[in-house]
Amino acid sequence: MKKILSVFILGFLFIPVLPQKFENLALTPPMGWNSWNKYQCNVSEALIMQMADAMVNSGMKDAGYQYIVIDDCWQVSRDENGEIVPDKGRFPHGMKYLADYVHSKGLKFGIYSSAGKVTCQERPGGLGHEYQDARTYARYGVDYLKYDWCGSSTQDGKSSYSNMRDALYAAGRPIVFSICEWGTSKPWEWAGTVGNLWRTTGDISDSWNSMIDIFGKQRDLAKYAGPGKWNDPDMLEVGNGGMTTEEYRTHFSLWCMLASPLIAGNDLANMTSEIQSILMNKEMIAIDQDSLGRQASCFRDNGEYQIWVKSLSGNEKAVCLLNKSDEKKSVLVDFALLAKIRSFGFRYEIPEPAQEGPGMPGMGPKPFGDKLLTLENYRIRDLWEHKDLVVKESSAYIDIPPHGVKIYRFIKK
Ligand code: GLA
Repeated sequence: MKKILSVFILGFLFIPVLPQKFENLALTPPMGWNSWNKYQCNVSEALIMQMADAMVNSGMKDAGYQYIVIDDCWQVSRDENGEIVPDKGRFPHGMKYLADYVHSKGLKFGIYSSAGKVTCQERPGGLGHEYQDARTYARYGVDYLKYDWCGSSTQDGKSSYSNMRDALYAAGRPIVFSICEWGTSKPWEWAGTVGNLWRTTGDISDSWNSMIDIFGKQRDLAKYAGPGKWNDPDMLEVGNGGMTTEEYRTHFSLWCMLASPLIAGNDLANMTSEIQSILMNKEMIAIDQDSLGRQASCFRDNGEYQIWVKSLSGNEKAVCLLNKSDEKKSVLVDFALLAKIRSFGFRYEIPEPAQEGPGMPGMGPKPFGDKLLTLENYRIRDLWEHKDLVVKESSAYIDIPPHGVKIYRFIKK
């Protein structure tokens, strides 16, 4: 009996602790603001507090934005115990004070480090300090960690990020883990169990070419995204001045179609009404935040004119008509056909008509749900015009401005 008992106890002692990330985090793509795109190293306590205030006062919080993330340059060194030291000049009251302030606004607080020896701005990185830093972040009250890839030399991506995941888990505070290794080791193939989002490319810049190039690179990645695990085509440049209003509308629309994290990167305290109407287009945000968590796929690629489709919960879908060219396009859109598109896995197709007839038992009826996929069952909402389309015929000519989009939501009647 004693033997059995000791075998039992021994067995119990050796049950391996399975590595894991926190459950139920980022079930829809994270929404927030990050300092890098506009302010780079010019971060301070005053700026972060101002942005937290502006997130509330501008209506961004009500639209769903939640995280205030300080990117690189908040940290300067490590002390004799290896503890990370914030820049005292820029953050006179320390990071806990700032986290408390952000929390007092009903928002969440994010911070940045790197998996290597140094960050991209040569500040101390996390390598060798993972567990210590994770405990420090938990003490500060951090809710979101962006973890970069600078200073990583010959490190392995998957094991480096898994190590930080384990450290965060051990520290006990649920923290959204944002992996930023720029797509180097195809994180979409392994990061679903490691983090909540992962950058898929190098850095975005505030230009049409950069944005549209990054968008194109997401094309084959839809199957890796879902609740709690998102492809990250980088933060938004909307409002930073390098693109036209039309291009920013396209940028925002494409990110929503991709179920991307929506991390604004502009000055929230000084937004024009156009920029506000883009970042706070609640009908577009609802596409991004749909609970099904699907990333759009390309349905038709005619070069400069493309059609992208994103399945939504409740048998609805969003369709994006994208004009990448420098000229206005007038395209004949067959809405009856768009209504019929359904997803086969992560591809979108028009189902074949059912082949019923004498001598062909068992060929019909049509696959599940197809009967519903007809124009009569939907109203079509233009998500930038904010009105329903009046479809007199099943097809119509639609104008799409240069570098522009049309986004339609097929809403069940
Ligand atoms: C890298 C990241 C950027 C930003 C900078 C900060 O380039 O990809 O998003 O965090 O580092 O130095």
